[in-house]
Amino acid sequence: MDQATRAPATGETAIGVALPHESAALHVSGEATYTDDIPELNGTLHAALGLSRHAHARIVSLDLEAVKNAPGVVAVLTADDIPGENNCGPVVHDDPILADGEVLYLGQPVFVVIATSHDLARRAAALAKSDDVVRYEPLEAILTAAQAKAKKQFVLPPLHLKRGAPAEKIAAAPHRLTGTFEVGGQEQFYLEGQIAYALPKEMDGMHVYSSTQHPTEMQLVVAHMLGWPAHSVVCECRRMGGGFGGKESQSAIFACIAALAAHRLRRPVKLRADRDDDFMITGKRHDAVYEYEAGFDDQGRILGARVDIALRAGFSADLSGAVATRALCHFDNAYYLSDVEIVSLACRTNTQSNTAFRGFGGPQGALVMEVLLDDIARRLGLDPLDVRRANFYGIGERDVTPYGQHVEDNIVEPLVDELVASSGYRARRAALAELNARSPVLKRGIALTPVKFGISFNVPFLNQAGALVHVYKDGSVLVNHGGTEMGQGLNTKVAQVVANEFGLPLSQVRVSATDTSKVANTSATAASTGSDINGKAAEDAARKIRERLAAVAAKLLGGDAQSVRFARGHVDANGASMPFAQLVNAAYLARVQLWSDGFYATPKVHWDAKTLTGHPFYYFAYGAAVSEVVIDTLTGEWKLLRADLLHDAGRSINPAIDIGQIEGGFIQGMGWLTTEELWWNRDGRLMTHAPSTYKIPALSDTPAALNVRLYRNENAEPTIFRSKAVGEPPLLLSFSVLLAIRDAIAAAAGAAHGETREAPPLRAPATPEAILDALDAMHVDATNAARQSRNSEPAVTKSPVARAAATARTGTPDR
Ligand code: MTE
Ligand code: HPA
Ligand code: MOS
Repeated sequence: MDQATRAPATGETAIGVALPHESAALHVSGEATYTDDIPELNGTLHAALGLSRHAHARIVSLDLEAVKNAPGVVAVLTADDIPGENNCGPVVHDDPILADGEVLYLGQPVFVVIATSHDLARRAAALAKSDDVVRYEPLEAILTAAQAKAKKQFVLPPLHLKRGAPAEKIAAAPHRLTGTFEVGGQEQFYLEGQIAYALPKEMDGMHVYSSTQHPTEMQLVVAHMLGWPAHSVVCECRRMGGGFGGKESQSAIFACIAALAAHRLRRPVKLRADRDDDFMITGKRHDAVYEYEAGFDDQGRILGARVDIALRAGFSADLSGAVATRALCHFDNAYYLSDVEIVSLACRTNTQSNTAFRGFGGPQGALVMEVLLDDIARRLGLDPLDVRRANFYGIGERDVTPYGQHVEDNIVEPLVDELVASSGYRARRAALAELNARSPVLKRGIALTPVKFGISFNVPFLNQAGALVHVYKDGSVLVNHGGTEMGQGLNTKVAQVVANEFGLPLSQVRVSATDTSKVANTSATAASTGSDINGKAAEDAARKIRERLAAVAAKLLGGDAQSVRFARGHVDANGASMPFAQLVNAAYLARVQLWSDGFYATPKVHWDAKTLTGHPFYYFAYGAAVSEVVIDTLTGEWKLLRADLLHDAGRSINPAIDIGQIEGGFIQGMGWLTTEELWWNRDGRLMTHAPSTYKIPALSDTPAALNVRLYRNENAEPTIFRSKAVGEPPLLLSFSVLLAIRDAIAAAAGAAHGETREAPPLRAPATPEAILDALDAMHVDATNAARQSRNSEPAVTKSPVARAAATARTGTPDR
């Protein structure tokens, strides 16, 4: 954490300092107010949802008498009760709030029960399981991306980008390979589930407390649903207990249903989804199946490449168009591809509507490139790191992305060099080969993977933000901005920016809840742009006030306004000084406006959605990781032994928060690629819908050695204090874990049959089953190896997944 100790520059009271999260004390003491903690108003009712039992069916009849007569039930509402538009879709209007005549996935809300308690509402809603309540005529259901692709069923037209002559270059290349790969989806698993609390107000007004990344969108969908103008609806969010993309659009169905019930009953209504319902109703990260092809030279340099990315979009469009576009724009990752063809498909299936999840399609695009490079290295018998290096973007040449943007801020090479040195990669690879030679059952693997991630919403108009800053008469400051706090530390960074502008200690600045009645027409807090855009907007607002204050100070103290300094809670001019609060009071008496709005629009970004070219990203964030794993070739269990992460946060505004984001993103990505397995049965019922069957990483999955460092850098673009966005990019550092497991499997295969040029057919998530399947496919017989040697390394500590697998096999937990 070397930047953490950096002394703040003159006048910068709080920039670049490792300050704790603004709510850290509240988080750990349990005092932080989440939506469910807001004291309930008298008369509050509770809603629960009746869910569909079929993946695709016509609703033949709906008889809600039994539900209405259940204990505690006040009302039951259906699509017919919606006064305005029955839609909560963010882009295409194909997301019914409540099913109307047809259900499109298993878990779709069909009706809502409003009762006197949460528990009674849920009990009544469970009657949706009865044939007497809802009768269906099942229709054909398409469940997987592969099925939908075969049927050419997409939620939007296929995206197709071609540069140069990839087919010809592949045909003429000295080496060629083709491959397939698949990666699973991922449930956001925010610790605080989806929730909304709606309060009806006078004169057709509605106040909705929503756990959402996108209050403006919630305001608008609620207004449309009620048939009201937007000014009649307020959406407010103090904080979320995590969003991870899952609350960018999909908080909408909960906000709408709570507001619908509140409107119909003229009572406050809360809808808090039970965790299983949350899993069944909401979309996840898009899983993907890939087909790829490449031609390359003896050094592994790619001469031509083609990929076909089929993403499972689910039953509706949601944000899948932008996700598929970001996947397409991240296939290149850190590598120059002169001749390339990328097809990105958003496949329509009868499953939950997949949505944003940290990385937003970027991880799905870049992962297959890393797999392809690993294939190439194995085919040529080279260290995968050397093949990666041979393909890195250049500087001033070989620097144009497939979508036409020049990579102007490329730091991949020096960053990777630094990590190779600090992690001891070369020596460790050599040591691993020796270790593996002596260890017949446990095999180690190591991998280094780089990240280049485009920062900005890939829909240009979304790159705007607003803020509102009040300086009160006593000199204390209240900041409101359009971004939302989901644990990522946005409010802390924005407070640092404003405190710095006024030269105040952080304690003088308070950031209030996001509220659509304070700052209008905001974008989602997403695409990692939160602090970039809201930080700039808040700085703009604060600067306007500071300039007015400086004029007052110059009058009082002498000198000119430009030379007035704000620092240490004081204002200095002309050799004299006065406390900030005193100046503020003087300005008030002089009738100077002490509050201001602020606005920011990201420069440079543009995108042509027809040609799939442009400059979609203001800049790129970079990083690299080395992971070392050990796998047990008998059981498929594995463990991450050590990870070294070097990440570029530009000139970090808050190194403590940024390092937290890097660690969190890495571990969350590792969960996606290893233990988090979503599994639907053949009826389209998601069977892994609770922590009992869906395994997110536990504290014990953190490697004993986790070395995280910020790369010394500053943004080439004039972003807020030349920092870089850090929310999503580090998730891609986890690729190194999957590729290290692949490396260990290759080592096992090499030990069994002599050096192999085959790439391990390892799917993701690399669960113990997937690892065993890959070993099987490579004819590695670990039992034989174990028999031959009795002095192997000590057994791998059992991972939660392995324990779950053991439970599934024997029917009893082994602990
Ligand atoms: N960190 C925490 N603790 N909780 C979250 O929900 N969401 C991630 C990332 N980091 C998330 C998080 C996602 S998906 C995004 S886009 C960014 O934070 C959003 O916040 P930012 O733009 O302010 O970085
Ligand atoms: N990230 C997150 N949300 C978005 C994006 C993006 O790039 N584009 C449109 N919505
Ligand atoms: Mo993040 S997936 O852009 O909410």
